[in-house]
Amino acid sequence: MGKETLQVAIVGSSGYTGGELLRILLNHPNVTVSAITSERSAGQPITAIFPHLASLTRLICEPLDPAVIAKKADLVFLALPHVTAQDAANKFRALGTKVVDLSADYRLADPAVYAQWYEHSHQYPELLKQAVYGLPELRREQIKKASLIANPGCYPTSAILGLAPLIKQGMGIADLTSIIIDSKSGVSGAGRSPALAYHYPEANEGLMAYKIGTHRHTPEIEQELSALAGHPVTVSFTPHLIPMNRGILTTIYARLTENLDTTTLHGRYSDFYKHEPFVRILPAGQLPNVRNVRGSNFCDIGVTADPRTGRAVVVSVIDNLVKGAAGQAVQNMNLMMAFEETTGLTSAGLFP
Ligand SMILES: NC(=O)c1ccc[n+]([C@@H]2O[C@H](COP(=O)([O-])OP(=O)(O)OC[C@H]3O[C@@H](n4cnc5c(N)ncnc54)[C@H](OP(=O)(O)O)[C@@H]3O)[C@@H](O)[C@H]2O)c1
Repeated sequence: MGKETLQVAIVGSSGYTGGELLRILLNHPNVTVSAITSERSAGQPITAIFPHLASLTRLICEPLDPAVIAKKADLVFLALPHVTAQDAANKFRALGTKVVDLSADYRLADPAVYAQWYEHSHQYPELLKQAVYGLPELRREQIKKASLIANPGCYPTSAILGLAPLIKQGMGIADLTSIIIDSKSGVSGAGRSPALAYHYPEANEGLMAYKIGTHRHTPEIEQELSALAGHPVTVSFTPHLIPMNRGILTTIYARLTENLDTTTLHGRYSDFYKHEPFVRILPAGQLPNVRNVRGSNFCDIGVTADPRTGRAVVVSVIDNLVKGAAGQAVQNMNLMMAFEETTGLTSAGLFP
């Protein structure tokens, strides 16, 4: 067991993931949220921005000054846009503060790949080398020793967890050239800043694919799958925007290298995740629904082997703001601080 009360700060607390971090951390028995930041709402109580937290906290937003925040917190969550987070992480690490970065800035190990996909050169390649990709199901032991966590993206979390049992080196049963990932995300995945595509009449009652083959989560998914497989993996990834607030549903198709039925495939998945507190392999024949994970840190996975096509079809669902962002960030903090991994995260989803 680690320290009893950890002082933490949320940088970018006025955004969707910042608000979700606060909602989760206010109920965490080992943590006190000692500082929160917002540039545009500095001086305002956070409950003016998030009325659902009224009476639960008196925290006031302050501007981001790493030297000031670092004196109040042993660990900071960065819920900032990419590029902005890069610099903040560097300053906090220089001040000795542990960092869990929810942005993409420290997820791609190769700075050239970052520059290619994010159109911005990485300013801190040395710090990048120290970052650990924070997917606990695959990197738990590294996370425990890390001081800088690159919290995974929402689409990658659903895709990588859905694919890991199919491709892990030594036990893989998928043709690595055949992987197709089709994901649908709720609109909160785009953050709180207004943009026309997320305006109610534009998003409501519509369903559209976007950034086919060019979405920035593609290299992140490929990096982690390649590490897992021990071979380069290329995927076809198509994201969609769907008119719901939260949730991601990812359907994965991959050609099997063995002739398996659903019962056997299901057994492989159940075995792979048997010790994981937040991955639920549904009984064979059941398929997941984003409704069942809304507000929770669970990833639900349903598996089917289709003998007619020789493919596995895997469906995984998460809440993009919880297992896809804030919940996973808290899971990572728990591991870094030697708290029980599930602390603060065991509540069920909101149903219906
Ligand atoms: N939304 C998701 O489902 C999701 C999932 C996984 C990862 N992420 C990643 O998590 C990060 C935060 O996402 P979000 O959806 O919470 O975004 P958001 O709703 O747009 O919030 C962004 C936050 O960053 C602050 N901010 C913006 N520019 C700043 C600057 N130059 N200096 C200081 N603070 C600044 C904003 O504060 P002000 O009050 O000053 O505007 C706000 O608190 C992003 O990198 C995103 O890619 C998001």
